[in-house]
Amino acid sequence: MPVEYVMYQGIKFPPAYNSEQSLHFAHREFQVQDDDVFNVTYPKSGTVWMTEILSLICRTVLNSTRMPWFTTRLGLEAALNYPPPRLLTCHLPIQLFPTSFFGSRAKVIYTLRNPKDVLVSYFYFSKMCSSYEDPESFEQFLGDFLSGDAVPHGSWFNHVRGWMEMKGKDNFFFTTYEELQQDLRGSVQRLCQFLGQALDEGALTAVVENASFRTMRENQMCNSTLLPADIMDQEKGTFLRKGICGDWKNHFTAAQSKAFDGIYRDRMGGLLGAFPWD
Ligand code: PPS
Repeated sequence: MPVEYVMYQGIKFPPAYNSEQSLHFAHREFQVQDDDVFNVTYPKSGTVWMTEILSLICRTVLNSTRMPWFTTRLGLEAALNYPPPRLLTCHLPIQLFPTSFFGSRAKVIYTLRNPKDVLVSYFYFSKMCSSYEDPESFEQFLGDFLSGDAVPHGSWFNHVRGWMEMKGKDNFFFTTYEELQQDLRGSVQRLCQFLGQALDEGALTAVVENASFRTMRENQMCNSTLLPADIMDQEKGTFLRKGICGDWKNHFTAAQSKAFDGIYRDRMGGLLGAFPWD
């Protein structure tokens, strides 16, 4: 079914949760506070995983409130009524991030993932979420993903290159889905250090257990099964689908992988070699 995306500054956004006004407000008017912590990702890179981890670490924040998507119509209201310190989530590329962030001491945690796995996860998600156009085929979706702004939330390459310009700044922490998979406990410890949150061994173990794929898949508070069926059709897929690294190998042909690698090399510039999948 055709989807009428919301367009903001040349980028498509899913219509169920975004409006031009909510995006404009987030970008130009939203007042960042120094103790805000932002969970920022390109879609399908581990957003909900990081949300779970951060809300488990920061127990001073009510779990029921969690991390509002402040760029969306409902999330914005939640963010504005949120007692500090706030935990906030978005998929915004850096050029659309609240201008009041720059110059604040607010923190950003940026999680990224092997783009081939992002693409596979995004392909299946687009089939189950009514706010995304159903891909005609994997080949077509791959073409859109590589061409840039044809996919909602824009180009993965621009997103990553834009945010990685923040690398080295005190209030910026980046991690990868692959690192979370390989060493979740160590990753949580590094996050705690960045956030200035001390956790004892028991609390650390509880975070790691509650953020495991198995536990999250069963947890209705994060597995998306409570979302209305007209937004997320559980018969067409599962939000916490496979939760593995390297599923792209089950989807890409050798030719598709080679073409992807060529474009990746061209587009990543100085970042080539910076990530576990390189
Ligand atoms: S969204 O819609 O952009 O917010 O999606 P996002 O949360 O960024 O990404 C969804 C993918 O993350 C996987 N996921 C996990 N993997 C491993 N362990 C845990 N705990 C976990 N939680 C979420 C989820 O399964 C999606 O990946 P795929 O490859 O589709 O399984």
